[in-house]
Amino acid sequence: MNFLSLIEAKREGKILAPEQIQGLIREFTAGKIPDYQMAAMLMAIFFRGLNTAETTALTLAMRDSGHVLKFPKDERPVVDKHSTGGIGDKVSLPLAPLLACLGFRVPMISGRGLGITGGTLDKLDSIPGFKTLLPAAQIIKQVQKVGCVICGQTKHMVPADQKKYALRDATGTVPSIPLITASILSKKLAESLDALILDVKFGGAAFMQTKAEARKLAKEMISLGHECGMNTRAILSDMNTPLGRAAGNWLEVKESVDCLENKGPNDLRELVIDSAAHLLVQTRKAKSLAAARVWAEACLNSGAPRAKWDEMIVAQGADLKAFNKKLALDSTAKAVGELKAQKSSYVSKCDARVIGQVIRDLGGGRLAKDSQINYDVGVDKIAKPGECVEKYGTLCRVHATNANQVEAAVAQLKTAFEISVQRPAKTPLVAEIILR
Ligand code: URA
Repeated sequence: MNFLSLIEAKREGKILAPEQIQGLIREFTAGKIPDYQMAAMLMAIFFRGLNTAETTALTLAMRDSGHVLKFPKDERPVVDKHSTGGIGDKVSLPLAPLLACLGFRVPMISGRGLGITGGTLDKLDSIPGFKTLLPAAQIIKQVQKVGCVICGQTKHMVPADQKKYALRDATGTVPSIPLITASILSKKLAESLDALILDVKFGGAAFMQTKAEARKLAKEMISLGHECGMNTRAILSDMNTPLGRAAGNWLEVKESVDCLENKGPNDLRELVIDSAAHLLVQTRKAKSLAAARVWAEACLNSGAPRAKWDEMIVAQGADLKAFNKKLALDSTAKAVGELKAQKSSYVSKCDARVIGQVIRDLGGGRLAKDSQINYDVGVDKIAKPGECVEKYGTLCRVHATNANQVEAAVAQLKTAFEISVQRPAKTPLVAEIILR
């Protein structure tokens, strides 16, 4: 295949034929296209875009680069949720066991961190013994038995996304509507879902900076999802402020368990319940969103999803004893420090972008494809906009590898917070629901 001519065509803004797109994904997955050429193609797509037919061809070619899961017939609908990525966005972790307890099957194929946003797989890798790379047969077996699995792309499951995802992260080509659409929907279509709820983030720490861009991305994914027979909806949610009070891989696992134990922060709980409620309506298990919310909340309160979480992680190799021991620790990092308020006031801004950058600089995210992740670093006890903090009260706490790192991070985190004498107006977390 003459890949150079395809790069040149896209660079000039020409439209690629479906067979050309299928060919490039086939050859790239087979290792016949070097990363530098694929990186050039990704940048050409980033600037020139793809039309609907090209995006569809790319998505389907990526889906078909590996196995497409086939589930036995059973009364439990097959559903999932996927987020476009944010800071402190750990919704998938408590949501998967909640959905299993609500009578769904959840074959959740997630991703690693992209840019400054955290990734579900990196978070799960902080659990002792937990395996995210599973063969298709094991995914199906676990979903049938436990009800949920959270795993990643592999050489056999959406391998084209596995390779392209890491390359996009290292080449600044993530915030592209067709590339995000193909990446997310190829994974979700490989799961053979009945219904999908998307959490499309907008704001300073999101790939879509404005609500209008987020809406455009949501509509593209919803339309392609429906075209492929998957009932798809989207929540547009605010990502100017981190979700919850903790960001960083292990700290987010800890907060997810808190959520399952009904001790977690309200914003996280709201998104978990909302996501579950939409899926209950999409699959006609509930008649209205209000009734679905009541059902999802009661299920979360029952403690059954907390027990399901343990069942899920053990099925994926986790050492429960080591996990519980780790969970009992206040911090697993070598050095901890706090950013304190200089006077008593309201928090008027808590910038998720700065917090994400701090965590990446601490080693909690990647700057290159093969960067090693430090799972223990992060920021927690984050004070959120609208909250009142006393003089010398905690604005946030840093978990780092040494005292110098703590000091540098605290200095950087000062720029994330703004305070005011007056209580600021509340910004809704969920700005919009896009049905079709
Ligand atoms: N999540 C994905 O799986 N892919 C993207 O491109 C962005 C978020």
